[in-house]
Amino acid sequence: MKIGVIGAGRIGGNAARLWVAAGHEVLLSFSRDQARLEADAAKLGERARAGTVAEAAAFGDVVFLSVPWTQVDAALAEAGPLTGKIVIDTTNQFGREGAQSLPDGQTAAEFNQRRMPGARLVKSFNTLTAAFQASEAGRPAEQRVVLFMAGDDAEAKQVVAGLIDDAGFAVADLGGLADAGPMEAPRRAGALYGEEYRPAEAALAVAALRAGQALPATPDYSGHSDEG
Ligand SMILES: NC(=O)c1ccc[n+]([C@@H]2O[C@H](COP(=O)([O-])OP(=O)(O)OC[C@H]3O[C@@H](n4cnc5c(N)ncnc54)[C@H](OP(=O)(O)O)[C@@H]3O)[C@@H](O)[C@H]2O)c1
Repeated sequence: MKIGVIGAGRIGGNAARLWVAAGHEVLLSFSRDQARLEADAAKLGERARAGTVAEAAAFGDVVFLSVPWTQVDAALAEAGPLTGKIVIDTTNQFGREGAQSLPDGQTAAEFNQRRMPGARLVKSFNTLTAAFQASEAGRPAEQRVVLFMAGDDAEAKQVVAGLIDDAGFAVADLGGLADAGPMEAPRRAGALYGEEYRPAEAALAVAALRAGQALPATPDYSGHSDEG
């Protein structure tokens, strides 16, 4: 599969590395230092190259959006319309003063969907630190680290689930974009964000959330949230 990465920093650079290792092709974009981006792409080998944001958007069967929250509008302006594209939204809504609350009770995923009309947005890769994702990808099945996802497009979620698996993680589907709140920042009691889940516990957690119940207690694997 072809994946256009917009923001090849800690989260995007790591996902690109994991997907190249799994046989996918990536195009890295959105850097203030194009020479560094090209060097990063060269390190990943022949299945990777660097380009502009518009090139990444056009290249990708899937677009991976991994820029700071404050840069989302700028990145989307460079990308152009993403209508019909599957977009994996990894962003957490950290502004200069920490986690932001969004208007009208929207989840950050819903807020971003409105910023890219027609995109098939799936939120994922956002609940655990980049360092943790880098070190823990590819564990054996029952210990696999879970990446939660949420989205309104079932077919897009199926594609993203395959990419989560290819990157060496397990997937747990939280539901639609309006259901994404528990996987969004900040880290807090009663939320999934920042916590390590493994597949069996994640299934129980998703079932509890869907039934409107509190999350069951889980082992404290220590917490690995992105704090902006
Ligand atoms: N880091 C984590 O542990 C983590 C975990 C989960 C989710 N997230 C979320 O994932 C998204 C990406 O986070 P990240 O930690 O991967 O970010 P990052 O390492 O800072 O990467 C951001 C990328 O955007 C590029 N960029 C271009 N213009 C920029 C500008 N004006 N200001 C800042 N960056 C610019 C940077 O390239 P240059 O530096 O080359 O210009 C960099 O490659 C964020 O929304 C974050 O909340 C992060």
